[in-house]
Amino acid sequence: MRRELCFPMSADRVTGLVLDAGLEGLGALVSSSGRSRVFLVADERALSFWGDELDLELSGLEQAGRLLIRAEEAAKTVRTLESAWMAMRQAGLRRSADAVVCFGGGLVCDVGALAASTYLRGLPLILVPSTLLCQVDACLGGKTAVNLGDAKNQLGTFYPAESVWIATRLLATLEPGHFRGGLGEALKTSLVGDASIAAGLLARVPGAGEPGFEDWASSLVERCLRVKGAIVTEDLLETGRRVLLNAGHTLGHALESASGFGLTHGEAVAAGLVLEARMAELLEGSAPGLSLELAGMLPGLGIGFAGLSRSPGALADFLERDKKTGRGGQRTWVLPFGWEDCRPTLLSPSEESRLLGSLLEEDAAW
Ligand SMILES: NC(=O)c1ccc[n+]([C@@H]2O[C@H](COP(=O)([O-])OP(=O)(O)OC[C@H]3O[C@@H](n4cnc5c(N)ncnc54)[C@H](O)[C@@H]3O)[C@@H](O)[C@H]2O)c1
Repeated sequence: MRRELCFPMSADRVTGLVLDAGLEGLGALVSSSGRSRVFLVADERALSFWGDELDLELSGLEQAGRLLIRAEEAAKTVRTLESAWMAMRQAGLRRSADAVVCFGGGLVCDVGALAASTYLRGLPLILVPSTLLCQVDACLGGKTAVNLGDAKNQLGTFYPAESVWIATRLLATLEPGHFRGGLGEALKTSLVGDASIAAGLLARVPGAGEPGFEDWASSLVERCLRVKGAIVTEDLLETGRRVLLNAGHTLGHALESASGFGLTHGEAVAAGLVLEARMAELLEGSAPGLSLELAGMLPGLGIGFAGLSRSPGALADFLERDKKTGRGGQRTWVLPFGWEDCRPTLLSPSEESRLLGSLLEEDAAW
């Protein structure tokens, strides 16, 4: 079932991607790129399940050192980044002979990749994403980040990995909320660039461990990454089309924060897609259509609206912290007007509060 894909990210950087069920071959990939030592940045929980397999796979390489991260939003900080730099220094990492391997979900990959991109002005980077969200989305495109206080992902670089190794078997140990989060992000990708993903793969979601799960996951991951790859290879630095990947995210981030992070990122994005689709309809003065269709899909993904904040005050408060607010309080939303038809839409503060007010008064979609 192994698939190999290649995405040219910039004039001097290509991300090679291997999609397989397991980790067999990862060690050979690292050594074939001429690196003899690896520095591991790993998700503590993922490693508790898969550490033996990973160690075995990397046993032919010298281990320069490792940093374990407990993947909680509170750990996505400059302090953790500094710990990574210090551990890299202690390991005496060299740009020419060593590689950083990040093993974990979006959080660990974001932090580990930021450390790799800045230490010695950039070390070779290999990502091994272990969550569905990271496999369908975060592992490709080079965004790295830590938070600055309560401002999410405020510090970061664009630093595409040299290689990404995707092993769908790792998804078997994910907690259900994090699996659902990955499905939410896949729904966004489908809405942005390939309606057939939702029509086919997301219409029936097998449980991890069920027969056929790995083929289903592999197909979902590949199709999502082809959509994202087509966008980021054209616009790595988000000066144009890449912004479309933020569909559902403006309200999604606010809902995620308002839930006290009880909702996972991808679950909040899925709910954000429904509500932002309704905002697009309200803007056009049309009856619920796409928003109802999307809302109808969420139960099949195991995602519900229970627990979502309906308080305009709380949502407005969290929206204000969004780093995408521009001059005069105007904000660019990426509103879904239809399948494969998401559009950047600049809203003034008064338009925004009118739309949000109408949205929150309606019970139709949620
Ligand atoms: N760089 C990007 O393009 C990009 C895109 C989307 C999101 N993100 C970032 O990704 C982060 C969210 O990532 P995520 O949804 O992957 O979650 P995560 O990295 O926070 O991990 C979620 C949970 O799953 C656990 N886990 C990870 N792999 C596991 C496994 N195989 N088995 C069991 N448990 C496992 C972790 O320990 C954690 O408890 C956010 O910080 C977000 O900002 C980055």
